[in-house]
Amino acid sequence: MPPLAVPDDPAVSLVDRREALDVLVSELRRAWRSFDAARPAEPVLPAALRERFDADLPEDGDRIAEAMADAARALDASVSPSRPLMLAYIPSTGLEAGVLAESLCAAYDVNMAASAGAIEHIVDQTLRWMATFVGFPLEEGVFTSGGMTSNLTAILAAREHALPGTRVDGVRAGTGAVYVSAEAHHSVVRAVEVAGLGRASIRSIPLDDQRRMRVDLLDAAIDRDVAAGTTPVAVVATAGTTLTGAVDDLDAIADVCRPRGLWLHVDGAYGAPAAGSRARGHLFAGLARADSLTIDAHKWMGVQKACSMVLLSRTGALASAFRHEESYLLHEEDTSHHVDHTLEYSRPVRALKLWLAMRTHGARQYRDWLDHTVALADDLVARLRAAPDFEVLHDPPLTTICLRHLPGGDVDLDRHNAVLARAVVTDGRAYLAPAVLDGRVCLRVTLVNFRTTHADLDTLLATIRDCAATIAAESATT
Ligand SMILES: Cc1ncc(COP(=O)(O)O)c(C=O)c1O
Repeated sequence: MPPLAVPDDPAVSLVDRREALDVLVSELRRAWRSFDAARPAEPVLPAALRERFDADLPEDGDRIAEAMADAARALDASVSPSRPLMLAYIPSTGLEAGVLAESLCAAYDVNMAASAGAIEHIVDQTLRWMATFVGFPLEEGVFTSGGMTSNLTAILAAREHALPGTRVDGVRAGTGAVYVSAEAHHSVVRAVEVAGLGRASIRSIPLDDQRRMRVDLLDAAIDRDVAAGTTPVAVVATAGTTLTGAVDDLDAIADVCRPRGLWLHVDGAYGAPAAGSRARGHLFAGLARADSLTIDAHKWMGVQKACSMVLLSRTGALASAFRHEESYLLHEEDTSHHVDHTLEYSRPVRALKLWLAMRTHGARQYRDWLDHTVALADDLVARLRAAPDFEVLHDPPLTTICLRHLPGGDVDLDRHNAVLARAVVTDGRAYLAPAVLDGRVCLRVTLVNFRTTHADLDTLLATIRDCAATIAAESATT
């Protein structure tokens, strides 16, 4: 059979494809180069371009090449988490494989609502690869739009498991309880609210000296609820808290959950990939005993948003929570549609970005990358601890560091660090965000980008010091 020829016939296209592809290639090349090294300053959107973005919808269209060039200028002047010194929140990397997979996905526009055909092999393989990388006994899993949705998916599955029939009857106030560390991500609280359990069902468990959930207090809180007739729905442990990177003691928490048949969900949106690292894998002992696990591939696995997944070590729980029969989505014989395992209907093939990245780079390069960022964090902590004008507010187990600049003299450190965070962002060489740890305002840095170098840390510290000097000089003259 001759190969299928796809004619490049302009009669069936609304754009000049050749020109559009040329622009795309040159814009991608420019963007990728710009991620290679930290920039001395961020570009400002030219006024003429700014004016074009105020224009009304044109009656007659423009050339796609012109429109793409404008879009690229706007993106280049936006805050991109892929830059090596973008250290605020939890940044990204601009991984080339993710961009290419995303383009292919958009070209084919496969819908992961119903049965999608051959691509399902790739989705399943990606879930298996991710589970193998972090050492999780996968039985089933789904890709979602982010850690928020993955946590919600797990909570809904756990709710139906602990309180069967809730999908139909709803939840009575005070029926269930969900246990989290005091520094769990707010998405868990939101998931509990959306699941109808009510925010009052959250038991916020105090932290130990490593900022992990105190397991003795967890145990006691569960006993109290059971004695009061409240059903424990799930314990949500965090493997890498957003604020400090703390990894809850998963083994000890599993020891509490297992005898009670209580669902253990691990929110590893940020930290879980480090379970596959050489440097920090030991922190995740017990991960394999969890019922479900959230991993955001758009954080430390470096692919573009939005790509998260929830992995389960049991079968049937997702179907119990989501399966339904509709006259427009029949289950002929034994077919199962993707919407029977997840919240969303129409959705893209989120897995492809991660699949292409894992296939291209392999487990070894990912491990090297994780170890490199951990080494960067260790290096930064050592430098900060050796410097008289800085302090580190905790012992960072992963790559998130809360630090403070100490200008010396009689200065309000909270105010100084809040002003400093804004000044660093305005300076443009680095981007970081302020945070509050134990009531103290600090600068929070997260290192997950393989492009960040040890020399970039020199730039980071120089930028903070330069900005602090400018602030000091300004306050001396006022
Ligand atoms: C621990 C943790 N869980 C959940 C989330 C929410 O993830 P997303 O922004 O992908 O919805 C975050 C985001 O930073 C996080 O750090």
